[in-house]
Amino acid sequence: MTTTCPEIIKAKPFLKWAGGKSQLIPEIQSVLSLKFNNYNDPFTYIEPFIGGGSVLFHLFKTFPNLEKAIINDINTDLIVAYQTIKTYPQQLIDALQNIEKEYYGLNNIAKKNEFFLERRNQFNQKNRHNNIDNTVLLIFLNKTCFNGLYRVNSKGLFNVPFGKYIKPKICDAETIWSVHQCLQKTTILNGDFEQTLQYADQKTFFYLDPPYKPIKTTSSFTSYTKENFGDSDQLRLKGFCDKINETNCKFIQSNSDVRNYDEKNSFFDELYKKYNINRVKARRNINSKGAKRGKIDEILIHNF
Ligand SMILES: C[S@@+](CC[C@H](N)C(=O)[O-])C[C@H]1O[C@@H](n2cnc3c(N)ncnc32)[C@H](O)[C@@H]1O
Repeated sequence: MTTTCPEIIKAKPFLKWAGGKSQLIPEIQSVLSLKFNNYNDPFTYIEPFIGGGSVLFHLFKTFPNLEKAIINDINTDLIVAYQTIKTYPQQLIDALQNIEKEYYGLNNIAKKNEFFLERRNQFNQKNRHNNIDNTVLLIFLNKTCFNGLYRVNSKGLFNVPFGKYIKPKICDAETIWSVHQCLQKTTILNGDFEQTLQYADQKTFFYLDPPYKPIKTTSSFTSYTKENFGDSDQLRLKGFCDKINETNCKFIQSNSDVRNYDEKNSFFDELYKKYNINRVKARRNINSKGAKRGKIDEILIHNF
């Protein structure tokens, strides 16, 4: 079966990703459009911590003058998924339709659970499949695991439990085609954020969304990969922002407002004192207990 290609206007994240930025988009957009771009001049967009890509897709929809994008993430399974959508959208859709049909056909939750656990084991066998199969498993697990989280343990194994959803949408062909369209103008990299600097040109905007510094020691969710993003990485990121600034490019970085929990904690205020810091409200969805979700402050650091 072939699927027709909808407009870029429908592009949105094809995975649910912890730290997704949909809530912060209006704030990012207002800094960007007021101070950086008048919607006419072509510009390059670089996102070194792409995750689910909500900001990338939003910018592609909003700024027709976004000429090219460079995206990067250290998570190889995630980047393989972007590459697969860029190159093999129809094959991916066909395979997702098959796995969706198989899952829907299991007539009780115990069988669905068993099916989920088999696929999770398969995904964790790293000597395994080609890029399309790997992406099918990643998307399947994301749509059927508890709360759509992506989390790995210290050995790098995906360990989110079964979500008990009866008929989740596993194959979203429309989204895959629209993401495919955006990716035609996008260079996709897999590695540490620092490698993206070499792609900057005269008119480049960086949006940086690193794993957040935990707001309190008990609340750390940084397990996108087996290596955690600690304070030394936050300092390295500050050095990276300085380099962006020295090359006359613009950046916005989002991070947690650690002062929200401890008024005396001036980690970011000190580190970024030569830049602008806006405090903004954002809804976080990482905590699995509904009662603990809510609006808390985040910071946007920018050099313009
Ligand atoms: C907060 S998430 C980004 C969320 C994204 N903005 C969204 O809307 O879904 C942070 C991302 O940084 C990636 N990451 C962690 N350490 C990294 C590093 N050293 N270099 C590049 N990416 C890294 C993680 O794999 C994760 O996808």
